[in-house]
Amino acid sequence: METNFSHPLMENNITKEDISVLIEFLETNPRLTQSDNVIKFEKSWSDWLGVKHSVFVNSGSSANLLSMSALKECYGEGGEVIVPPLTWVSDIASVIQTGFTPKFVDINFMNLAMDIDSIIENLNDDTRCVFLTHIQGFNGLNDRLLTELSKRNIPLIEDVCESHGAVFKSRKLGSFGLMSNFSFYYAHHMSTIEGGMICTNDDNLYEVLRMLRSHGMTRECDNDIYRKNLEEQYPDLNEKFIFTMPSYNVRNNEIGAVLGINQLKRLDENVEKRNLNYKIFLDNIDSKIYFTEFDLEGQSNYGLNFFLREPDLHLRDKIEQIMTNHNIEYRRGSAGGGNQLRQPYLKKFLGDSNLQNYPNTDHIHHFGWYIGNYPNLERKKIEYICQILNNI
Ligand SMILES: Cc1ncc(COP(=O)(O)O)c(C=O)c1O
Repeated sequence: METNFSHPLMENNITKEDISVLIEFLETNPRLTQSDNVIKFEKSWSDWLGVKHSVFVNSGSSANLLSMSALKECYGEGGEVIVPPLTWVSDIASVIQTGFTPKFVDINFMNLAMDIDSIIENLNDDTRCVFLTHIQGFNGLNDRLLTELSKRNIPLIEDVCESHGAVFKSRKLGSFGLMSNFSFYYAHHMSTIEGGMICTNDDNLYEVLRMLRSHGMTRECDNDIYRKNLEEQYPDLNEKFIFTMPSYNVRNNEIGAVLGINQLKRLDENVEKRNLNYKIFLDNIDSKIYFTEFDLEGQSNYGLNFFLREPDLHLRDKIEQIMTNHNIEYRRGSAGGGNQLRQPYLKKFLGDSNLQNYPNTDHIHHFGWYIGNYPNLERKKIEYICQILNNI
């Protein structure tokens, strides 16, 4: 095993078969900007997820941004959005960019998502939505949260960028919220080179999201009656160029869609393989050193996620040195590099936050990692990695 050993974050996520399908498509000399395959991919994705509508965009970050923009457009400006400090930068940047105030809630160790009791304690009349991230393939929902939000009429927005195919009570994550976001970037469960999806059951939001994706133009609407209603309000404008709101161009294209359609066929099978790999990893890693009591119910593992039970900077550095020596690519801090409250973009916005209010996020920030998990990872390689991590 030792000679030339390496373990990258991702391997072979766009297969030879994907490339053959793509070449076959390209040989028909097709239009490559957003067209029929984008529509087909969106439809297949909605069917797979169990929602009415999906909007294919150029990244998960764009999905975050459009969700917050659509929330502002349809539910009004200002107010608080509850977010975790352990998430990707764009989950929080999108909240700030659209003029909402992020309100941070610490995570719990079992699923790395926001602690549900703390979310509920932080809800108030100013709460515009709970923007929950399902981290690393773990389910972050429970009945208490869903009941409380529906009782108070507060929307849930789910970031499922790291958890495609994970379920809560047999229903896929991303089908619970008013909107949900997915990423199809490199090391994720599926790749369209770059890409993301926003999903919703709300017909009105769907039309707004389609316009927001493409310059705010009315001609992007799917529903003819909805579009005509808008057009009639602006008789002095040509219907091809009515820009209803300050917006973006975050469209994807046919190449991404062709890859997405093909990759979706093996997503469920890949999720099972990823979960099995994580189980092997947790069974073999030393539970005296590393936390292993994750809540795996309904998971769709993203990366082999682990963290030290006890804070120990010396041990942390030693483990990182050992991983580097064995060419094991790692990311410290789990999702998004750990505690966002420590990042310059937030410090500029918020000043110094009370980090002691987020001890769990901070623990993961300093003492947590993930390393690559992919469907074709072999058992003996996982066992070997555990041996390296245990042998400290
Ligand atoms: C939780 C989460 N949200 C959003 C994103 C953004 O996705 P993208 O890289 O496609 O912009 C990521 C990216 O890895 C992520 O992990």
